[in-house]
Amino acid sequence: MILWQQAITGLKNITSHPEDNIRLFFSPGRVNVLGEHIDYNGGWVMPCAIDKGIYAAVRLHDEPLIRIISQSHNEPCIIPLKKEIVSADFTGWQRYPAGVIFEINRLVKISQGFDAYVVSNLPEGSGLSSSAALEALIGKIVLHTSSIHTISDRQLALLCKQAENDFVGVQCGIMDQYAVIFGKANALMLLDCENIEHEWVPFESYPYRLLVIDTQKPRTLAGSAYNERKMQCDKALEQLQRIKPLQNLCEAELTDLQHLDNYTLIKRARHVITENKRVLFARNSLLQGQFIHLGELMYQSHASLRNDYEVSCKELDAIVDFTRQHEAGLGARMTGAGFGGCAIALVHEKGLERYKEQLQKFYFYQTGTACLIFEVQPSQGVHEYIPA
Ligand code: GLA
Repeated sequence: MILWQQAITGLKNITSHPEDNIRLFFSPGRVNVLGEHIDYNGGWVMPCAIDKGIYAAVRLHDEPLIRIISQSHNEPCIIPLKKEIVSADFTGWQRYPAGVIFEINRLVKISQGFDAYVVSNLPEGSGLSSSAALEALIGKIVLHTSSIHTISDRQLALLCKQAENDFVGVQCGIMDQYAVIFGKANALMLLDCENIEHEWVPFESYPYRLLVIDTQKPRTLAGSAYNERKMQCDKALEQLQRIKPLQNLCEAELTDLQHLDNYTLIKRARHVITENKRVLFARNSLLQGQFIHLGELMYQSHASLRNDYEVSCKELDAIVDFTRQHEAGLGARMTGAGFGGCAIALVHEKGLERYKEQLQKFYFYQTGTACLIFEVQPSQGVHEYIPA
């Protein structure tokens, strides 16, 4: 409620209109429970939207522009509706809303202008998909305020991804945008990234809690190293396709790795093949309520990301190692692209407070910085909030 209030107050401060006709929207962040660096390799991932995200208060106006003001950034983002939208005119956070509006505009001309004031409790650049949350938020606001019914949620996810690939220049897969748009309470999404279809796996984790641990280490390398990993996977696929017909790298088998011509490609492909299988094992474990097995798969995933995919860092490793040794810890791994950002952990509620306290101390001792720990719940995706 406090964040809605801040968004409404922020909006009122930038426009001189009375309080009525304000519309409210929310877009969540996401965590990925299993299946990392798999989406752009056409396999299975298991994310969920979370109960932290971006809150927006919106008011329509008659000017031919969209004006977005963010509580966390000084520069507003102003997008003209009568002129061409050019990526060079936008920097930093502005590229995400501008990219989405550019993509929607290519399909349906947007004519309705609006002001939006956005407030977030999602740490930015920490691997919880604050960028996908912003893209989906702006996309949803445009579709609702302009009454565009011809763009489905699936298309919206695809065009948000396109915006990030082309306008922002990160070659990300579909997972984040899809998860924040389709998210649902009490369930993990099992997303098939080749066919872009999903099913739900119930996530009633009691007595375990899902924690996010923010390393507070900015993911500085994320863009360039991320694109490099994608290129290495494309190269591995290309080499394997010379010996067998494969649609994507996740379809390869470990025995195929001998046909790759260098050790880096072998390691990258080995992560992709084993991680994809882990997601399917995790689905079965969850359907049978075997959280201990899920926890073990999380540890295995982290080891593979650290050793084969080489996207972890000492801060993330410290959190995972700590959890493994703690009596309340069931599983932990990095989540998102890596190189900093956040880890997730499954922790038994009995030892939860002790776990948090001891991890804070341990992490500070290991790294010289404090980490942020908070609990998350699988939650509903982007939506317009209609107060009762
Ligand atoms: C980032 C990307 C996603 C996905 C993850 C790694 O979050 O945006 O598409 O590739 O990294 O799993």
